[in-house]
Amino acid sequence: MQVIESPQEMQSWAIRMRGKGKLLALVPTMGALHEGHLSLIDAARQRADLTVVSIFVNPTQFGPNEDYGKYPRQLEADIAACEAHGADIVFAPKREEIFPADYSTYVNEEFVSKHLCGLTRPGHFRGVTTVVTILFNLCRPDVAIFGQKDAQQAAILKKMARDLFMPVEIVAAPIVREESGLALSSRNRYLEPSRLAEAAKIQQALKAGQDLVKGGSTSVDRVKAEVTHLLAQSRLIRIIYIEIVDRETMHPVREITPGKSLLAVAVWLEETRLIDNVEL
Ligand code: PAJ
Repeated sequence: MQVIESPQEMQSWAIRMRGKGKLLALVPTMGALHEGHLSLIDAARQRADLTVVSIFVNPTQFGPNEDYGKYPRQLEADIAACEAHGADIVFAPKREEIFPADYSTYVNEEFVSKHLCGLTRPGHFRGVTTVVTILFNLCRPDVAIFGQKDAQQAAILKKMARDLFMPVEIVAAPIVREESGLALSSRNRYLEPSRLAEAAKIQQALKAGQDLVKGGSTSVDRVKAEVTHLLAQSRLIRIIYIEIVDRETMHPVREITPGKSLLAVAVWLEETRLIDNVEL
């Protein structure tokens, strides 16, 4: 496995490999890799000849009061994990190489990003679509793998690729969870053990909502009320949103359509922002 820092070198490697007829997969990450990220590398390897993992804490997707400064960084351990999972390249550019002081071009998706985290983290998805476009231009993937953990992000990137005729297939891979049900997240390491148990209540509440739908309910109000009620029992959790949306457009629906609707939540657990979702 090779580690590439330079954007130019990354791009010429990708062009060279494509010239040899290789199918390339990209797994974009911000590092602090856990089993969720690693499952994406495994999925990538099944779909392509060569797998690139990018590790870049993207400053443009963090709001001014968010955790860019304290976001966990552990490049050496991440490189070892990528190697153990059979990645071919780790692309780990420097901040200034991607966003020099005079950087001035942004990509903005304006429909799928309207609700959920689009409302509650202004500017966040503009930073994501911009950096992912840059990564696509540098790594030239045939397929890019994202996690369903960030369901809205994956849906926005699918729409971006379609709207802009990007020659890349976007795949959303299943959420990897702890035994407690808590979705793995780099931000979980902000939480001490007692808080991790509290965070597991998020998945329990989502599952209760899912069970109502399995039992035949299609009422958005009924399911949202149940999930709200369960989350409100925790003194440490503050709800940011609980929404039932169409899983492609990410717009709220009036009635649940099993197989097409997604139940998505964002909460504060003390100072840590956590998101999760389940299909209905
Ligand atoms: P990051 O939070 O590092 O996540 C990288 C990828 O891992 C994303 O596609 C995310 O959905 C996926 N992922 C995270 N936790 C997961 C889990 N428990 N199970 C399955 N997949 C999981 O998302 C980003 O970085 C950034 O926004 C990025 C796309 C890299 C652009 O900067």
